[in-house]
Formats: sequence, C-alpha cells, structure tokens
Amino acid sequence: MGIVSLENITDVVIASLGKNGDVTDRQREIMSSLIRHMHDFCKDVNLQHSEFIEGCEFLKRAGQTCDENRQEFILLGDILGIEVLADMLTNPVEENESASTVLGPFYRENPPVLPKGASTILKHFDNEETAYFEGHIHDTTGAPLANVTMDVWQDAPNGIYENLDPDQPEYNLRGRFETDENGHYAFIAVRPVPYPIPDNETAGELLRYMGHHPMRPGHMHFIISKGGYRPLVSQIFDAESKHLDDDSVFAVKESLIGKFEKADPSLGTDLHLKFDFILRAEAGAKAA
Ligand code: BEZ
Ligand code: FE
Repeated sequence: MGIVSLENITDVVIASLGKNGDVTDRQREIMSSLIRHMHDFCKDVNLQHSEFIEGCEFLKRAGQTCDENRQEFILLGDILGIEVLADMLTNPVEENESASTVLGPFYRENPPVLPKGASTILKHFDNEETAYFEGHIHDTTGAPLANVTMDVWQDAPNGIYENLDPDQPEYNLRGRFETDENGHYAFIAVRPVPYPIPDNETAGELLRYMGHHPMRPGHMHFIISKGGYRPLVSQIFDAESKHLDDDSVFAVKESLIGKFEKADPSLGTDLHLKFDFILRAEAGAKAA
C-alpha cells in the first residue's frame, strides 16, 4: 500500500480505499474527505500520542454511557453543532417553508391523541405559566392544510422532561393534535423553561473542555407531518427566554422565535402564543 512518511501519509491512506474490497462512490467521497480533514487536524494541533490515547479513552467512555435512554454520541454531536448542521444540509429552506431544527433525545413515539384545544398538562407546578398555543399550517402557496398531525412535547416547569422525572405522570406535557379544515391547530400547555442538557459523563466533559454551559433556551418541540409534504421537525423558542444567544446545542433560528402575550381571560390560560407553520410539498408529490 505504501511506505509512509510525514509528507505522504494522507495520500497513502486515501490511495488504499477500495484496494481490497468494493467501495461505493459515496463511501469513497466520505472516507477521502474524512481522512484528509482528520489528518489536517492532527497536523494543525501537532497532535501528541498521549492526546490521541486520551481521545480514544474519551470515546470508549462515551460508548459505555449509551443505553436505551441515552445516545451519548448524538449529544456530543449536538454540543459540537453537528446535528444542527446535518439537519440544515438535509432540509435546506428552499422556498418559504418553516425552518427545521434538531429533534433532540426526548421525543416519545405515540403520544396521547388529543382533540383540538385540549391540554397536555397532567401535573401542576407552583411556578407554571399556562399557555394557549395556536396557529395555522399551510402550504407554500398559502393554502390551508387540514388533517396535519402535530406531535408536541416539552419540559415541565421544573426543567425536566416527563420520561426523566419519576414524579411526573407518563406523557405529561406530550400530545398529538390535528389541524381542522381551516388548517388551524390549538392546544394548552405551559410556558417552556430553560433547562440543562445531560451534562454528566462525556457530554459534560466536552462542555467543560469547550468552556460551555449545558443550558438550552425555553422551547416547545414539534413534529408536523402530512402525506405528500416534507415532515417538519422543529421547535418554537420563547422570545423572552434566557440562552437564545448561547444555546448549548446551537439550535435557535430567528424564524423560530415566538412571543408569548398575556392571554384574554376567555382562553383560560395565563399566556397566548400564536405561531404559523408552512410545509413544503415533497418533490415527488409536487411532480405528481
Ligand atoms: C432537546 O431539545 O430536547 C435537546 C436537543 C439536543 C440535545 C439535548 C436536548
Ligand atoms: Fe428540548
């Protein structure tokens, strides 16, 4: 394969691709670029062997941290801004559709199916501010979209998601709603509060190595889907929340910031947030 030197090592490794087995064009593209960038990184920082071993031990600990409830590598990718970058590359905003952002690790499949306007609150907290969330979902031409499915989930006023908190009922602050014939959705929940991403184990080590805090700004999560349209995984951020400018996972986008107003007494909540979403037709559906 080649006799190596400091000068030729990168080219020798890239030249080895596919020598003893088939590689697809995409595998070759990914591995050539990965090898080139990693070698350049090692040269840039003059990587010492002891630091290479330290990095390997860190990855070993990260692997040992993973279980059914914790995917440490996604968290590490979030802290490095890689999940949000991969999402923007996968879902570029090409028309006037709503922007997506990271899914995060706290989504639960099959949340309770609730009627329009219902509440997701199953436990009350002293410091909670209840909020009526509503808006319209339409396509990129402005036509309302009926029967759009909307999964919503958020942290409780104590900053903890229900599935990580033994003192909250199952599926607290989670629900699945549908838009009506006018594309209108509505539900009652609470104002989301800032909370820390898991910062023990290797995620915490990385945050401290980078001199970052673990906090995320208050946000409501959404997965919005309808056949023939690009599914939208996104979040609405509270315009008055702390950490909009220094989200630990870099997921805040200007167009996803919403403002809570004082609610009219007829709504029965403390606050009111109006936010519209736009879905783009899938390429195939458009052609059809
Ligand atoms: C979240 O918003 O729930 C989240 C996103 C990325 C990492 C950790 C948490
Ligand atoms: Fe979250």
